[in-house]
Amino acid sequence: MPTRLSSTESARGTPAPASARSPRSERRAPPRRRHGLRRPPTLALHRALPPLLRRDLLRLFENAAAGGSVVRLDAAGFRLLQVNDEALMREILLDKGRVYRKASLMRRLGAVTGEGLLINDGEVWKRHRRLANPALAAGSLPRYVPAMREAMAQTVARWRGGEAAAPLDLVAELSRTTLTSLLDSIFGIRGEAGMLNDRVAQVSGVIHALLDELVRQGSALAAPPLSWPTPANLRFRRRIAEVNAILDDIIAKRREDLADTDAPADLLGQWLQQRRRNPEHFSAVEMRDELMTMLIAGHHSLAIALAWALYHVALDADLQAEVSAEAATAPELPQSLEDLADLPLARGVLLEALRLYPQPPILLREAVAEHGLGGYHIRAGDQLVLSIPALHRDPAHWPQPERFDAGRFAGFNTDGMMQGHHLGFGGGPRSCIGRRFALLEGVLVLVEALRVFRLRPAAANAERVPPRFAGMLVPAAPLLVRAVPR
Ligand code: HEM
Repeated sequence: MPTRLSSTESARGTPAPASARSPRSERRAPPRRRHGLRRPPTLALHRALPPLLRRDLLRLFENAAAGGSVVRLDAAGFRLLQVNDEALMREILLDKGRVYRKASLMRRLGAVTGEGLLINDGEVWKRHRRLANPALAAGSLPRYVPAMREAMAQTVARWRGGEAAAPLDLVAELSRTTLTSLLDSIFGIRGEAGMLNDRVAQVSGVIHALLDELVRQGSALAAPPLSWPTPANLRFRRRIAEVNAILDDIIAKRREDLADTDAPADLLGQWLQQRRRNPEHFSAVEMRDELMTMLIAGHHSLAIALAWALYHVALDADLQAEVSAEAATAPELPQSLEDLADLPLARGVLLEALRLYPQPPILLREAVAEHGLGGYHIRAGDQLVLSIPALHRDPAHWPQPERFDAGRFAGFNTDGMMQGHHLGFGGGPRSCIGRRFALLEGVLVLVEALRVFRLRPAAANAERVPPRFAGMLVPAAPLLVRAVPR
């Protein structure tokens, strides 16, 4: 798809950021006719209306994916363009012309995360990312492994206890696992070995309620402004206030308890120590925003991806036998990213779950300047929806794309996933900062679950449960399995 006026030479007639501006002579020239740039086609009403009426956004995105490389799906009051072409997605994510920022549609999240990494931009983003990177680099991961193991030990104990009872709801179960591990890795709060204490249970209860609210809110692309006193908004704001109070309390206590000589493993402890030595490091408010961001970005995404992964393993006896055999031969649970080389199939299960059920399935950007993209005319303020399923289900890159095939990732390089046609962790400079953490924890959870248990789908959903869009790609019905100790 040729780009006549590429994003890097863009922005005539509309102020652009300094880095994207054209030479002086061009800037003074009157706005030119945009030779050859076309208006993106609009999705036909008969393709747009039925899913909109059913509030089935996933179907809307699917319909738009069949409509060309860039398709208009305008919502009330703003231009919304869905991008389905891999080269264009890459152009946007790499953003060499600096003509994109996080979409206004995402600003709503700011009520929860403040100016955290998921939504900030420009110099603020650069500084935050630079300060946050070291704690999530590959070399730092082993310090979080005890937290991951402990969370999984609690999961195993729970599942053993529930043997004869109701089937396990995988999303609910794995949400507890990933939240337990994140509370420990991020804040250093941990229950007694193998069990939750009251404090952890209280904190995780309140945070869960907020995160569930976020998923509910994510089911719509446009929602009433948070300032409107709708029942949903009031409930949401109450949850935010509760969680903020808890986080402020956790931060204040941790600061008090931390001795200068401590070398804490958790993110908060590391940042507090760094702030003591360097006043340029995150302030208390910035820390709160970033810790909240990590919780929001890291908790549901991993839990839901793992739930889909284990659900598919439960449905496929041959796959389960192979992954269990691989898990049984591994000397012990992985401690670092290098250890994942011994567990290619378990890693493949996680990557395949993220291919078929990307979390989130769309990435949102906003154009800050007028420019051309793939021959189409993009205006400043346009909201762009990058459709990951359009790429992940493209048979040119993924043979038999509908098939769950964990074996297709042999030799796959997780350091260059965008080059490998996989946008499960995004791409370019704004790709997921927690991807290494998620890969390590994800494989650890899969390996331990399949080492200890044999999973089978509960009779209620032996048929494939389809996904539904709720910000993330959540299951349309609970993913229920029975876990039988081996
Ligand atoms: C399976 C698990 C995960 C998935 C699928 C996932 C996916 C993603 C994706 C697709 C993005 C890019 C968003 C965009 O371009 O707009 C992203 C960004 C981000 N993720 Fe993750 N993530 C996961 C786990 C985590 C974890 C465990 C953490 C933290 C501990 C985390 C923290 C973040 C942050 C802070 C960003 C924003 C980065 C930036 O803009 O600089 N994520 N994630």
